[in-house]
Amino acid sequence: MDYANNIKTIGVIGAGVMGNGIAQVAASAGYEVILNDLKQEALDKAMKQIAAFLEKSVEKGKLQSEEAKAIFGRIRTTTELKEVKADLIVEAILENLALKQELISVLESVNPDTTILATNTSTIPITRIAAKATRPGQIVGMHFFNPAPLMKLVEVIAGEMTKPEVAEAIFEVSLKMGKKPVHVKDEPGFIVNRVARPYYLEGLRLYEEKVADFQEIDALMEATGFKMGPFRLMDLIGVETNHEVTKSLYEAFFHETRFRPSRVQQKKVDAGQFGRKNGRGFYVYEGK
Ligand SMILES: NC(=O)c1ccc[n+]([C@@H]2O[C@H](COP(=O)([O-])OP(=O)(O)OC[C@H]3O[C@@H](n4cnc5c(N)ncnc54)[C@H](O)[C@@H]3O)[C@@H](O)[C@H]2O)c1
Repeated sequence: MDYANNIKTIGVIGAGVMGNGIAQVAASAGYEVILNDLKQEALDKAMKQIAAFLEKSVEKGKLQSEEAKAIFGRIRTTTELKEVKADLIVEAILENLALKQELISVLESVNPDTTILATNTSTIPITRIAAKATRPGQIVGMHFFNPAPLMKLVEVIAGEMTKPEVAEAIFEVSLKMGKKPVHVKDEPGFIVNRVARPYYLEGLRLYEEKVADFQEIDALMEATGFKMGPFRLMDLIGVETNHEVTKSLYEAFFHETRFRPSRVQQKKVDAGQFGRKNGRGFYVYEGK
């Protein structure tokens, strides 16, 4: 089956940090988009962010105002999961295996056999996510980076049971979205998150050991050429999401000490300081 050319409608589940960007990218590539979240507030916030991004692109002369309107008009929202009937569905809910498996089982029950179910997981092996699915051949990793409208890379991950033509379709759709897709093996954290983990974790250890303050660590890393220091980056990603990703990688590597999660980060999560998304993480964003 020619999956890639049959994809006209893309469902996006979860309208958080990643979901809203993925919906925008898909609509910009000409797909009809159905954006779903459990919470109406999350959908409203996502649509506001998309509108703001498009407006800025028009101001900068990167987009015609008619095009921006058309892109925005291709995205519809719903809190009803059962209304998400699409040719390709990308899930971007919490980094939690059981929740992702449960979601997939509902999506399988309301969609035809040909629907591709892609996951934006950062670390969970695709084979494990697909383990309880009735159509594991249709499940694939499509890992975008934050912010999705700007970052070019997409990791395309085929699990043990993924049909090769399904992974190929994701590769082609990513190209159509103007991305740079790369096929990667189904290993915990794939490539980028595995390589990037020590960046966050050593930063957190330096801070915990009082070697330097977090602002200082960020300033030094940025001075060496990194676009963002580890703490600024965690605030952008979502401190709690970054922590979940580390915990998931730590489990998947059978508690290898190099991936041991940080207590300082745990404390931030316990305090509800998630970063930019709620106004305070390591830095304070209130009113900005
Ligand atoms: N934040 C990043 O930088 C980043 C980058 C790449 C990949 N990821 C991955 O993307 C996924 C989402 O991360 P995020 O940062 O966007 O999370 P987020 O917490 O910002 O957003 C998740 C959204 O999903 C919604 N949600 C939760 N359960 C749901 C369900 N069952 N049905 C519908 N909506 C549901 C929540 O209400 C929330 O709005 C995770 O798997 C994460 O590992 C995150």
